[in-house]
Amino acid sequence: MGGVRQRRVLLRILSDITASVRGRFTSVGWRLVEIVILPTAAEVGRAAAAKIAHRIARHPETVLGLATGSSPLAIYAELAARREAGLDVGRVSGFALDEYVGLPTSHPQSYASVIRTTVTEPLGLDPARVHVPDGLADDIEAACAAYEAAIADAGGVDVQILGIGANGHIGFNEPTSSFQSRTRIKTLAPRTRQDNARFFDSLDEVPTHCVTQGLGTILEARELLLVAQGEAKADAVAAAVEGPFASVVPASVLQWHRSATVILDEAAASKLRLAEYYRYTYEHKPPFQRWD
Ligand code: GLP
Repeated sequence: MGGVRQRRVLLRILSDITASVRGRFTSVGWRLVEIVILPTAAEVGRAAAAKIAHRIARHPETVLGLATGSSPLAIYAELAARREAGLDVGRVSGFALDEYVGLPTSHPQSYASVIRTTVTEPLGLDPARVHVPDGLADDIEAACAAYEAAIADAGGVDVQILGIGANGHIGFNEPTSSFQSRTRIKTLAPRTRQDNARFFDSLDEVPTHCVTQGLGTILEARELLLVAQGEAKADAVAAAVEGPFASVVPASVLQWHRSATVILDEAAASKLRLAEYYRYTYEHKPPFQRWD
C-alpha cells in the first residue's frame, strides 16, 4: 500500500515537472486567471461541473478540494446527475477546505455533515476517501498537521473548488491571512459569522473559530476553480481578480496561481472593469482549450 502511494506521489511530481517545463516553453499551463461570465447561476454550476467531469473522465483518481456554502451546490448536483448518467467517480477522493471548531460532527451545520449530505452521498463517493478537517481534536495543531500530511499523501489536490465570502475570504481564510498559511485554527470575522448565521437558529450558535486549509495549501492545488453568483459577491470578485494582490483580499491569491478559473453569473461579474474583454476571450477560446 505504502509503495503504491509512493509511486502515485512520484508520478504526480513527474507530471507537475513536465507540465511546468512545457509551460515555460510553450506558455501552455501558465496563464492568466480565466474569467468566464455566464447568464445565470444555473449555468455557472453546469459549466464548473463540466470542467470537473472532463478531468475525472481523463483522470479517474482525481483528488477534489471541496468547498461548502451555497455557491458550489449546483456543481455537486450536476456532478451527481452526471454520475447517474455514467460518470465513474469510484476512485475520486476529496478534501474539504474547512470545519467549525467545537461543533459535533453530527450537527447538521458541521462541515462534516454538510459535505456528507451535499457531496459524499449524492455523488456516491467512498466515505473513506472524503476527508474533513477535525474541529474537535484536543490537539488542534497536531490535527492540522495530520490533515496537511493526508493531502500530501494523496498526491495533492487536483481541482480545488472555491466559493468566495463577501469579505473576499476563501475557505475560512479571513482578510490578512498570510499567502503562505497552512491548515490552522482561525477566528471567524464578525461579518462571516453574521453571513453564516442564516444556517443556524441564532448568531450566538455560530462558532467563533474554525480550522481551515491555508492560502499556501490552496495555492498548491493543481487547478483552482472559483464560482460566484449574485450581486452580493460582485465587490469581492472584482477585488479578487482585478484588485491588488493583497492579503486583505485573500481570494486575490488566485492571481498568483498557474491555473485558476473563475466562473461567474452576470450579477457576480457586474463590478468587473474588463468584463467585455473576458467575454471576448472566452468566445475566441481555441477549441483545444475548451472543456464545455
Ligand atoms: C463559508 C465557507 C466558504 C464559502 C463561503 C461563501 O464561509 N467557509 O468556503 O466560500 O462561506 O458561502 P456561500 O457560497 O454560501 O456564499
